[in-house]
Amino acid sequence: MASISVEQAKQELAELAEQIQKHDEAYYRNDAPLISDGEYDELRRRNDALEKQFPELVTADSPSQRVGAAVGEGFGKITHRVPMLSLDNAFDDEDVRDFIGKVRRFLRYDPLMGALVVTAEPKIDGLSLAIRYENGKLVHAVTRGDGTEGENVTANALTISDIPKELPAGVPDVVEVRGEVYMSHADFAALNERMIANGGKPFANPRNAAAGSLRQLNSAITASRPLKFFAYAWGEMSEMPATTQMEMVETFAKWGFVINPLMKRCQSVEELIAVYHHIEENRATLGYDIDGVVYKIDRLDLQERLGFVSRSPRWAIAHKFPAQRAFTILREIEIQVGRTGALTPVAKLEPVTVGGVVVSNATLHNEDYVKGIGQDGKPIRGGKDLRAGDTVIIQRAGDVIPQIVDVDLEKRPEDSVPFEFPQVCPACGSHAVREENTKTGRMDAVRRCTGGLICPAQAVEKLKHFVSRGALDIEGLGDKQVETFYELSLEEGGIRTPADIFTLRERDSKALVKLRNREGWGAVSARNLFDAIDARREMDLFRFIFGLGIRHVGEGNAKLLARAYGSWQAFYEAMVKACDHDSEAFRDLNDIDGIGMTVALALTDFFGEQHNIEQLDKLMKEVNPRSVVVADTSASPVAGQTIVFTGSLVRLSRDEAKAQAEMFGAKVSGSVSKKTDLVVAGPKAGSKLTKAQELGIKVISEDDWFDLTGQSSS
Ligand code: IVH
Repeated sequence: MASISVEQAKQELAELAEQIQKHDEAYYRNDAPLISDGEYDELRRRNDALEKQFPELVTADSPSQRVGAAVGEGFGKITHRVPMLSLDNAFDDEDVRDFIGKVRRFLRYDPLMGALVVTAEPKIDGLSLAIRYENGKLVHAVTRGDGTEGENVTANALTISDIPKELPAGVPDVVEVRGEVYMSHADFAALNERMIANGGKPFANPRNAAAGSLRQLNSAITASRPLKFFAYAWGEMSEMPATTQMEMVETFAKWGFVINPLMKRCQSVEELIAVYHHIEENRATLGYDIDGVVYKIDRLDLQERLGFVSRSPRWAIAHKFPAQRAFTILREIEIQVGRTGALTPVAKLEPVTVGGVVVSNATLHNEDYVKGIGQDGKPIRGGKDLRAGDTVIIQRAGDVIPQIVDVDLEKRPEDSVPFEFPQVCPACGSHAVREENTKTGRMDAVRRCTGGLICPAQAVEKLKHFVSRGALDIEGLGDKQVETFYELSLEEGGIRTPADIFTLRERDSKALVKLRNREGWGAVSARNLFDAIDARREMDLFRFIFGLGIRHVGEGNAKLLARAYGSWQAFYEAMVKACDHDSEAFRDLNDIDGIGMTVALALTDFFGEQHNIEQLDKLMKEVNPRSVVVADTSASPVAGQTIVFTGSLVRLSRDEAKAQAEMFGAKVSGSVSKKTDLVVAGPKAGSKLTKAQELGIKVISEDDWFDLTGQSSS
């Protein structure tokens, strides 16, 4: 380095600090870098070189001491390069056996191929965090958020001593370690004591304490909260340092992370269950909360083949501990009307603490459930009905809504009467009926209001859902606001259907009483609302599909549909065609991985209703759902093709074959038609092969498939 005076170095360092700060903010907080990664690295390198030469000039707020963007008002958002997924749950041994069975079938991993090694480790009850290192230096730490995008809590993560700020030499260029931030029982108790002594409110449980502490805007507060971290997973890695789950985690330990000492490799379901019981027995002595045991297929090549369904990997499952229970009094049973008209009874309880959380409501599902009859027609709670005044046992498992599991009949008040489920909708007075399920011939468990569009409760719930966070997420239009807008006529500036939201500004300008003059509103808040609405005229396709509130179409299914159809137009046209259940469109819908018959029928029920189509047509004049940008499969030789797999495949299970084809941008169909582009036939292929030959469709073998898609046949 050219020789330079202390004064000059000081000056240059100050400029570098300012520049780096600006680019950190642009990158981490605004997700909009102003310069290339290379240029940014150059600034950092220059900073490091100067500081090496003049160590006395290193200040506490130098870029080398600080990482990522300073946490200002609110946290910046960072998109996870590899989504942070959740885990499917197993509640008993049978579920674990099913999981292993499914994995074996998917991989065609039969017992002759030897043991399928699976790891078992505690499921830590904290919050997950992704920590990214570039060239061994911590660059940012991000909460899980919605799995796609989390909060930048870098400054706070830096205060956690279990998290290395730097990794040893020789680690891959990009390393993203994931794990759980948690608080120990002892630290939690001491913190709560301190909070109470200072006149503050204590935390309900260690998990809440950990979450509250990590999400402090002032990292000095986080630093004063004793948080810990277990590393158990990873996101983006420029290079894989190991080939199994166990070795990966052991590598993290070598790099300075804390890993859970109870993690074990198992060779059979029996062994997994033994580890589960061992961990459960030791639960109280661990000193931190856990809520189950996580099993993961050890070999990473197998994990990769297994892939994901919707939001969780096929290669892992969480075996949950049984729920925690408590006694309380059932004060009354309230009926709520949902957006699909379902009348749902809700238990209003004397508030009680279960597993560290105060519970005052419990779901009662439906009429039969209140009577003590389960979904399958068999008695639950010993067939005991629920009545106001009853002493009940409630249970809570993880994030699941609390349930009433038993009634103490000895304590039942003498004057109690059985609950009478209303036969009319409490919101609109329409008949509430239980339809016969055409498939099972049994009465549907749910009583539904027949009011449809005239039922204000249904309409209001539909609107609330449409603007809710996971759907259109319109700021300033929460549950309360939706309720008040619904009370007004359209001329008065009200909202009755989703399309009305987007004509609000225009109608308001003609209304006698303008929104800005209404109670709780002003000129600024009214304008903000109109702007927030306009900002949502374009939205992700899946959010729009989810927002329609179609039965069984939650966020996960909405994503699958958006990905499968790509654009609103394609989806809409396919759904209208699929209303004919003999159509190819209906078969295609059913063929989407993760979409089953129930969802398919719910979709065609929705699109088969003329009034829904009318509402959609009105809505589409106002909004523009963004088409999905699909992964670039243009280089794939089968992109856009329709493929049929038939006969007995040897190397692939049907599920894996399908997953592979979809990964290469092809569509998989169950039947051969003129539209089929390619048939992959194994031995014993029958009528489908014959039909393909008749139609002159290209037929290849399973081995050809591997060659065609460039997958080495190792
Ligand atoms: S593995 C792809 N291992 O559980 C799945 N998760 O329900 C990666 N969790 O969001 C997660 N302990 O916050 C894994 N030993 C463990 C865990 C664990 C706790 C949490 C994690 C995750 C949630 C999924």
